[in-house]
Amino acid sequence: MTAGTRRLPAGRVESERFTFLADGVPVPAWPGESIAAALLAAARSPAYFCGMGVCRECFVVVNGEAGVRACMTPATPGMKVDTLPRRGSQA
Ligand code: FES
Repeated sequence: MTAGTRRLPAGRVESERFTFLADGVPVPAWPGESIAAALLAAARSPAYFCGMGVCRECFVVVNGEAGVRACMTPATPGMKVDTLPRRGSQA
């Protein structure tokens, strides 16, 4: 890698990347990437345990809909995610 270039995931081009809002902060994501993966990559870790839709630790609120599993839900451009503790739970 030379100065001034960035390493991209294999097969990706920078123009594919988009952002969504997590607690009001823009988070970059790639098409097909889960909300949880994008948050982890941006060092904005949600509650996260199994990563396969079983434990229910990663519930977030997406565009006002509560109880969305961040690990199983693809990020989409412009979506609004609320990761604050307990606000995403279905309890
Ligand atoms: S991390 Fe377990 S359901 Fe998402």
